[in-house]
Amino acid sequence: MALRAHERGGPEQLVYEEAPRPVPGRGEVSVAVTAAAITFAELTWPETWEAGGVDRRPVIPSHEFAGTVSEVGPGVTDLAVGDSVFGLVPFDRDGAAAEYVVVPAECVSRKGPLISDVAAAAAVLPALTAWEALNDQMNLAAGQRILIRGGTGAVGAFLTQFAHTLGADVTVTVTSPSAEPRARSLGADHVIVTRPDSGERDQQAFDAAIDAVGADVPEWMYSSVRPGGRLVLLQEPPNEVLADKYGVNANFFVVHTRRDRLEELAALIAAGQVEVAIAQTFPLSEGRAAYERGAAPKPRPGKTVLLVQ
Ligand SMILES: NC(=O)c1ccc[n+]([C@@H]2O[C@H](COP(=O)([O-])OP(=O)(O)OC[C@H]3O[C@@H](n4cnc5c(N)ncnc54)[C@H](OP(=O)(O)O)[C@@H]3O)[C@@H](O)[C@H]2O)c1
Repeated sequence: MALRAHERGGPEQLVYEEAPRPVPGRGEVSVAVTAAAITFAELTWPETWEAGGVDRRPVIPSHEFAGTVSEVGPGVTDLAVGDSVFGLVPFDRDGAAAEYVVVPAECVSRKGPLISDVAAAAAVLPALTAWEALNDQMNLAAGQRILIRGGTGAVGAFLTQFAHTLGADVTVTVTSPSAEPRARSLGADHVIVTRPDSGERDQQAFDAAIDAVGADVPEWMYSSVRPGGRLVLLQEPPNEVLADKYGVNANFFVVHTRRDRLEELAALIAAGQVEVAIAQTFPLSEGRAAYERGAAPKPRPGKTVLLVQ
C-alpha cells in the first residue's frame, strides 16, 4: 500500500492504494518503512513530479524515513537485511509514504536503538538542510551575526540550534509572541515577532541570513545583510535585482544526503543534544488528511509524521 498522486496538484490528489513493491537495483536497498515525515511544501517542488524532465506520475511523496532494511541490491556490502535505518530519499524518486521504499545505500544510515523511528524520520531533512546551509553554504563562524526568518519552523528550529552551537549571534523571527520562549530555548539570542507579511529589520546588520519560511522572500531579508554578506534561500532562486541592489551574495540550494552527516545527526539525537519536535502523527492510510492539515495551525510545533507499519 502507498500514498500516491496520479495528477499534479496538492493534497487533494493523494490516494491511499495498492502500489507495486519496488525492487532494489545495484547500490540500492529496500526499506520496510515504519515512519515517514512530511515537508508540506514538497508537493510544490518540481523534483516531486519529474526526473530529468521526464514525468514520474504516479508519485509517492514524503522523502524522510525510518525503517528496517528488507532487501539489499547487488554491490551493497555495508548494510544488511534487518538493520534499523533512517535516511532521505532523493527528491526526484518515489518517497517513503509507502510500505517499502527503495533508496541508494549512501542515502541511508544505521539509526541505533536510542532514537525512535518517528524522531529519526522527523529530524533527517530539516537537520541536514540546516547543517548544509550553515556550514557549506554560509561558512558561519563563531561571533558572526545571523538572521533566521522562521526560526521555530521545522528547518528553522535546527538552524537556530546549530547556529547557536556554532557560536553565532542568533536573531530569529517568529510570527507569534507565544513562540518566543521556544525560540530562546532553541538558542536564539534575539527574537523578533513579525506580522506574517511585514517587518523592517536592522539595515545591513547581519553577516548572514536565511529564509526558512518559503516563497516570496521579502525585500527586507536582502537589505538586512551587510554588503558582501550571505543570504541563503530554501524555496526559490534569489531575486538577482535585489541581491545586486544590496550587494548581497544570495543563493538557493537543495540539500544533499550524506551518510557521514546522517551518522553525526544520529549521534547528536541519541545524546539528547538536539531537540526534535513532533507536531502530530497520522497512520499512512490517513496520509491525505495529514497533508491537508499542512495549511492549518498545528497542535504543537514540529514535524508531521506518517506511521506506516
Ligand atoms: N532547499 C531545500 O533543500 C529544502 C529542504 C527542506 C525545506 N525546504 C523549504 O524550507 C521551507 C521551510 O520548510 P519547513 O519544513 O521548515 O516548514 P515549516 O515547518 O512549515 O516552517 C515554516 C516557518 O515559516 C514561518 N511562517 C509561515 N508563514 C509565515 C509568514 N507568512 N511570514 C513569516 N513566517 C511564516 C512559520 O512560523 P510560525 O510557525 O510562527 O507561523 C515557521 O517558522 C519551505 O519553503 C521548504 O520548501 C527546502
